Amino acid sequence: MREEKCVLPFTQEAELIIDDYLDMISKKINELGFKISEERKRDFLLAVKHSLKLSSIKYAKKKKSEVVREQHVKETVSRVSPSRLIKHALQTPQIFLHVEELRRKHFQIIREKLESSSGSRIVLDAGCEYGRQLMELLRHGWKFEFLGVDIDLEALRYGKSVEPSIDFIRADIEGSLPFKDNSFDVIICIGVLNFTKKGANEAVREFARVLKPNGLLFIIQSLTRSKLISIIAYLAWKIVPKIGRLYQKTQMEKILRQNKFTHLIIDKAFFLPLTLGDVYFYTAFQSKD
Ligand SMILES: C[S@@+](CC[C@H](N)C(=O)[O-])C[C@H]1O[C@@H](n2cnc3c(N)ncnc32)[C@H](O)[C@@H]1O
Repeated sequence: MREEKCVLPFTQEAELIIDDYLDMISKKINELGFKISEERKRDFLLAVKHSLKLSSIKYAKKKKSEVVREQHVKETVSRVSPSRLIKHALQTPQIFLHVEELRRKHFQIIREKLESSSGSRIVLDAGCEYGRQLMELLRHGWKFEFLGVDIDLEALRYGKSVEPSIDFIRADIEGSLPFKDNSFDVIICIGVLNFTKKGANEAVREFARVLKPNGLLFIIQSLTRSKLISIIAYLAWKIVPKIGRLYQKTQMEKILRQNKFTHLIIDKAFFLPLTLGDVYFYTAFQSKD
């Protein structure tokens, strides 16, 4: 995707509202007692900023405006207070530290995998939205190629305007990905499989095809251990698809094993009441034979 010109400009007033909101978040993080490094705080604030900007652009476009104005941003920020946003994204200071530890552990494995591989070393982010995860890896000095796919064209355009060095391609992870077999060493897929329409199996099968032998798939996803909750969640998803689907943990592992992901490193991060599930980190290696 070429650098897109169709990302709407923001008025100065609109930018100021975003800056104020970010200031509130920054202060609230300190007030709530999170032990967070400056680097991670910057990552988090940038993620909030890009999400707000992307939502505001979408809202302004819906209102047929060619500029993002104050009222478009106000409407976007009014949907979630700084405290609620922090509670949702960082949870509590204690949980945050635990999740940081898991992040370090899994990303260390991913990095080692990339460093030990020869040939093109590309990280594919499946369901990348505007590319938050890849942008963070870039900021943290990862020197690999980055490619993001998503079905949300607006998000991809926005991502390209922020970080032109990342390649963004519009593609459906449940359809056939526009890549040859055995193309990638690493695929990351964070908070996406719950939102697939046909089901996680279609996507995981595609990942298995485009991963090189012994390739690594990293997933973050909420799952439940309870069969009853997964059935209730399935019915709720059938009625309101946008809430996403909650898989049973054993179901997810079956899907991975069926697609020859044999070596799984699994960690529970935290309980997410919103989905009734626990958020899990999965690093899975695939053996093709
Ligand atoms: C919750 S967002 C996660 C974004 C990103 N992975 C991150 O961690 O910041 C879920 C993303 O999955 C994308 N998505 C959902 N179904 C998809 C599909 N079938 N193919 C590609 N992307 C999909 C959505 O468009 C959305 O951008």
